[in-house]
Order: sequence, then structure tokens, then C-alpha cells
Amino acid sequence: MREAVEENYSAIAKGGACGCSSPVEDSAGACCGTASSSNACCGSSPSSASDNVNISADYSKEELSAVPQEAAEIPLGCGNPVAIANLRPGEVVLDIGSGGGLDAFLSAKRVGSEGRVIGVDMTPAMLERARAAAERSNIRNVEFRQGQAEALPAGDGEVDVIISNCVINLTEDKGQVFREAFRVLKQGGRLEVSDVVAGGALPIEARENANGWAECVTGALPEKEYLDLIAQAGFEDASVRRSPASGTIAGVPIYSAIVSARKK
Ligand SMILES: C[S@@+](CC[C@H](N)C(=O)[O-])C[C@H]1O[C@@H](n2cnc3c(N)ncnc32)[C@H](O)[C@@H]1O
Repeated sequence: MREAVEENYSAIAKGGACGCSSPVEDSAGACCGTASSSNACCGSSPSSASDNVNISADYSKEELSAVPQEAAEIPLGCGNPVAIANLRPGEVVLDIGSGGGLDAFLSAKRVGSEGRVIGVDMTPAMLERARAAAERSNIRNVEFRQGQAEALPAGDGEVDVIISNCVINLTEDKGQVFREAFRVLKQGGRLEVSDVVAGGALPIEARENANGWAECVTGALPEKEYLDLIAQAGFEDASVRRSPASGTIAGVPIYSAIVSARKK
């Protein structure tokens, strides 16, 4: 699955905008997830495993205009974790699966020059694109590190807030991702992730579909299982904001949710 995921995002990073000529003009900012775009959420070529599901990011025109164009062109998420993360000046933020850097750049504005943002991604072409955008726009409080969500390149207790947008569903060991998030957070740190989850268990044939997985659909866990893994990693006070279902796979509803939790 990891190879399929990396191949998919490498192609997107090397391409231009994903399916829309000017995402900044799309008020919902849902370039990659709308039925009218040529690309499915997160995916470069919608497969039969996911063509029944349309998931979108959730940015205002103002937010998309405030970040480098290279990042605004590829909003690959399924929500907007920065909007609810209540970031404060001076905080250190880590974005798991930072992609083109959209959420990292939005976070950088909120934490200001006293704070900093670490974007982590495994796909070299994504990192290259995000780093070039930061360089071109002279954004100094963001750095992009290569690494796996399951082995975050950050020290114990280095971070105030973990954000992530439509990434953890792509990983094969979600429990390990949450344990890593817990490790790198300071005491009192917050987890604010937007992700795709399912209303129940998906059939094994769907879960084995690599294209559907890379398009952020068939790797989705049932919400309860997802929340259990967060709790098992040590997080407390989890709360969930659900979006309406984006479609179904084998009759199972697929939807995006923003989960907030705390390391006490
Ligand atoms: C759907 S895109 C989301 C990008 C970004 N968060 C956004 O909202 O635009 C998924 C990103 O996560 C990265 N990714 C997927 N699995 C990963 C893993 N196990 N470790 C690190 N990065 C991963 C991919 O390379 C890709 O850039």
C-alpha cells in the first residue's frame, strides 16, 4: 500500500493543480474532492474502488489566497484542521503528511515568527514542492522533514500541536502513528486531525484495493476503531466533528471527521 500511496502523491506533486485550473476561485477550496473535478480526493486517477465517494478539503478563498500558489494548487485534504486547532503565537506545530504544505503554511501564519511548523512527508516530490514554495515565498518558520508517520522525525515532547489532514487513513499501522504523535507532543499538547473514517468495517476486497487506498477511501477504519487506537496511544478527552457521508463502499458510509484529543 505504501508504494501505491507514494507513487500517487509523487505524480500529484510533479503535476500542476489537481483537476481544477484555479483552485483559488473555488470558494469551497475543494479542488481535489468535488465531483466536478477530474481528480478524486487525494487521488490522481479515481478508481472503481472510490468513484462512489467524493471527499473535499474545506478552505475559504481567503485561506487559499494566503499561502504560496504551489500549495494552494493541491489541497489534498478532507477538512481543515487548522481552522479548529486554535493555534497560538509561539507554538510548535507538526503536520503529519504535509503534502504541498497548505496546512503547514496556514499554521505558520497563526504561530508567527516566535513559533514554528514542521511538515513531515514521506514522498520526496512533495517535500521538494513544499520546500520550493517556502523558499520562493520567503517563509522562514516552516521546515519540511522527510519521514514516515509511523516513525516521526521529531524528538520526544518537541511539539505543542499535531495536525494532519487526510493522511492517517493512508497508513497501514494507524496505532503506531498515534503512538508516535503522543511521543512527540509535550504534556498538555493537542492532536487535531482531519481524516476519512467509515461507518463500519469495509469488506476485505475493498481494503485490499491499492488504488482505493491511495485515494483516501479504502484504508478508512471504522470510527470506533480509530478512536480506540487514539485512546490506546494515551490520548484523553477525544471529541469528533463529523461531516455528512461522502459516499459508500459496499453499503458502508464513508465520511470525514475532525478528531481532537489531548496528551494530559
Ligand atoms: C492526501 S495527501 C494530504 C496532503 C496534505 N495533508 C493536504 O491536506 O493537502 C497525503 C500525504 O501524506 C503523505 N503520506 C502518506 N502516507 C504517509 C506516511 N506513512 N508517512 C508520511 N507521509 C505519508 C503523502 O505523501 C501525501 O503527501
